[in-house]
Amino acid sequence: MFCCCIFLAVSLLHSLCHFHVSGYDPSCTEFPVFTPSALVVKYGDPANVTCVVCQKDCSGDASGLEHAMGKVTQNGTTMFWTVDRLTEWDIFVMCYYNTDAGDHCSSTVNITIYQPPESVSISFVNHTGMMFENQLYTLQCSVQNVAPVQSLTVTFYRGNTALGHLQSNSEQKKPVNETFTLNITPSREDDGAQYWCETKLELGPAGPQRPPVVTSEKLPAIVHWWFTDSSCTEFPVFTPSALIVKYGDPANATCDACQKDCSGDGFGLEHAVGKVTGHGTTMFWTVDRLTKWDTYLICYYNTDAGDQCSSTVNITIYQPPESVSISFVNHTGMMFEEQQYTLQCSVQNVAPVQNLTVTFYRGNTALGHLQSNSEEKKPVNETFTLNTNSSREDDGAQYWCEAKLELGPAGPQRPPVVTSEKLPAIVHYGPELIGPPNPDVITVTEGDTLHLNCSFVGNPSPSYTWTVPVNSSLSDNGGILTIKSIGFEHEGQYICTVSNTVGTVTKEFNIDVQASPLIWIIAGVSAAVLFVIILCVLCCRFYKQNRKGSYNLKDVLRFPKHTALPLQNCENV
Ligand SMILES: *[C@@H]1O[C@H](CO)[C@@H](O)[C@H](O)[C@H]1NC(C)=O
Ligand SMILES: *[C@@H]1O[C@H](CO)[C@@H](O)[C@H](O)[C@H]1NC(C)=O
Ligand SMILES: *[C@@H]1O[C@H](CO)[C@@H](O)[C@H](O)[C@H]1NC(C)=O
Ligand SMILES: *[C@@H]1O[C@H](CO)[C@@H](O)[C@H](O)[C@H]1NC(C)=O
Ligand SMILES: *[C@@H]1O[C@H](CO)[C@@H](O)[C@H](O)[C@H]1NC(C)=O
Ligand SMILES: *[C@@H]1O[C@H](CO)[C@@H](O)[C@H](O)[C@H]1NC(C)=O
Ligand SMILES: *[C@@H]1O[C@H](CO)[C@@H](O)[C@H](O)[C@H]1NC(C)=O
Ligand SMILES: *[C@@H]1O[C@H](CO)[C@@H](O)[C@H](O)[C@H]1NC(C)=O
Ligand SMILES: *[C@@H]1O[C@H](CO)[C@@H](O)[C@H](O)[C@H]1NC(C)=O
Ligand SMILES: *[C@@H]1O[C@H](CO)[C@@H](O)[C@H](O)[C@H]1NC(C)=O
Ligand SMILES: *[C@@H]1O[C@H](CO)[C@@H](O)[C@H](O)[C@H]1NC(C)=O
Ligand SMILES: *[C@@H]1O[C@H](CO)[C@@H](O)[C@H](O)[C@H]1NC(C)=O
Repeated sequence: MFCCCIFLAVSLLHSLCHFHVSGYDPSCTEFPVFTPSALVVKYGDPANVTCVVCQKDCSGDASGLEHAMGKVTQNGTTMFWTVDRLTEWDIFVMCYYNTDAGDHCSSTVNITIYQPPESVSISFVNHTGMMFENQLYTLQCSVQNVAPVQSLTVTFYRGNTALGHLQSNSEQKKPVNETFTLNITPSREDDGAQYWCETKLELGPAGPQRPPVVTSEKLPAIVHWWFTDSSCTEFPVFTPSALIVKYGDPANATCDACQKDCSGDGFGLEHAVGKVTGHGTTMFWTVDRLTKWDTYLICYYNTDAGDQCSSTVNITIYQPPESVSISFVNHTGMMFEEQQYTLQCSVQNVAPVQNLTVTFYRGNTALGHLQSNSEEKKPVNETFTLNTNSSREDDGAQYWCEAKLELGPAGPQRPPVVTSEKLPAIVHYGPELIGPPNPDVITVTEGDTLHLNCSFVGNPSPSYTWTVPVNSSLSDNGGILTIKSIGFEHEGQYICTVSNTVGTVTKEFNIDVQASPLIWIIAGVSAAVLFVIILCVLCCRFYKQNRKGSYNLKDVLRFPKHTALPLQNCENV
């Protein structure tokens, strides 16, 4: 029934990937069977596996085999693969036969090649020497040349106490170097304990009965503590009690380890930088340029009872801001009134940022003080923001910010201050009336000059358009309308329309023209003079006629007979 072509392929994975896929051909009625079903072999060790290609329906002779390493012997449908030294990391073994229909029926055996770590070591990250109580340190376990790292478990220990288990995420099959870290916060009880790490290759049931374990050397924990040991009768005294030093400047301090009951030579000054010179229990520490941000100084003595009495001096290293600049967040150019804008003050390379106070100003007005929450000791860049509402009064004002390092009485006498450049505020707003409002009706006398003052402020500067009664001739000078000599034709409503890019408003003037009182005076006087002239003319006529014996006028004016107007007067008229 079958003309079987049977193969045992031993090859590098990449060269035979396609066979792996065809191994699950659904038309296969059975698959080759490996014994054992999985191989876990130490790199360089011998290995063997047996494959029964097929057990039923195997008509023909098993034929054909391929292998890249090791050798294969065959007995019927059973094949036996063996290798003296397994030194190929990507190896796999595949057994298959071809059916008449041309299908591949195959199986693979998983081969795990392992290599226990060549070495395992423990250390602190970025730290040498003693530790202080309640501070954070990082332990590091370095594992070299281990495979497969996926099966590795790393356990950190303090003495016999497991502190934590770690595993790798890597899927690398070949040997790798890998570092595992764990944060610890030692307490004084840990003083004298030993840190170490253990690696274990857990290779499952097919692996070696005792999983390979490699441990690191032991790292002694020297934990210092201070201030609290009740058995100390006195503590070392530092002068000065606190150091505030500009980065890169020199610094010095003196420590008196003990003044009474100082029996032995068990005292010292622990330091990260600088040098110490001593005279008995008095020690002098000095550094030319303080350029280590995480520095410390601890002075101690050991009592006969084995207690450690120590003091520390707090060292603050500061660096004034390298630069300070101000800007608007997400905004350039003009502002509009009654809107909220965000100012941003960027401070660069300042330390310690927790002692920095940033003040925003508009002109001379402080708008707000801000501080950082960061406890970073090294220089940082930090940005402070403040919201501000714009008003038209702010137009033309200048925003700026000031960064001040407040280091207290032990700090520099004048706290370092760095200010930003000035940022002009340009606030745009619609026309707004200046000056008192107008009366409803303005009464002007004919012939007078009319000034209408339509003065508004606004940003940008507003423009004016006048709507005037018909036929009025006018001169418009911005917000001022002038009519030299006003007449009745100028009477009516004047509308001044004021606008800028933000808004438009109008203002009305109602002009009432009244005749000049001088006209009435002139008219009155003229009338009076005319009356006198008429009277005189009539009078003279009457007199002349009276001399001629005519009495016509007497009838009209009914002058009494004896009344006589002086002749001379009449003649003068
Ligand atoms: C095959 O491997 C097994 C387990 O590794 C071993 O006990 C046995 O001796 C090996 N047989 C031969 C023939 O190498
Ligand atoms: C082949 O296998 C048969 C039965 O399993 C056995 O009797 C025979 O000795 C084997 N031949 C060799 C050369 O191992
Ligand atoms: C071989 O390994 C793969 C992945 O590691 C796994 O999914 C598969 O079940 C294994 N095969 C056998 C026969 O153990
Ligand atoms: C150790 O210190 C170096 C230099 O100060 C720094 O670059 C590195 O990030 C530090 N490593 C850790 C894990 O903190
Ligand atoms: C692991 O580290 C050792 C020593 O540093 C080095 O010789 C080796 O090549 C490294 N191995 C890998 C896989 O990087
Ligand atoms: C020690 O520091 C102080 C203040 O910083 C300084 O005035 C003094 O000169 C320094 N002394 C020595 C010996 O460097
Ligand atoms: C040193 O600083 C720590 C915390 O900042 C504080 O608790 C302690 O009192 C300071 N010590 C001295 C001597 O000022
Ligand atoms: C600035 O604008 C960007 C994009 O519009 C936005 O993602 C970001 O949150 C804005 N920042 C602030 C502080 O509003
Ligand atoms: C702060 O910003 C400046 C300029 O962008 C950069 O050179 C510097 O490295 C930054 N400093 C820190 C601590 O991030
Ligand atoms: C700005 O005005 C808005 C609305 O009137 C108000 O909610 C907000 O608190 C104001 N912001 C500031 C910084 O005054
Ligand atoms: C620095 O800032 C911290 C936190 O705000 C404060 O406790 C400390 O007193 C400041 N240092 C000085 C010298 O002012
Ligand atoms: C117009 O009125 C404003 C506000 O009262 C005043 O400041 C300005 O001088 C006046 N202009 C003229 C030309 O009178």
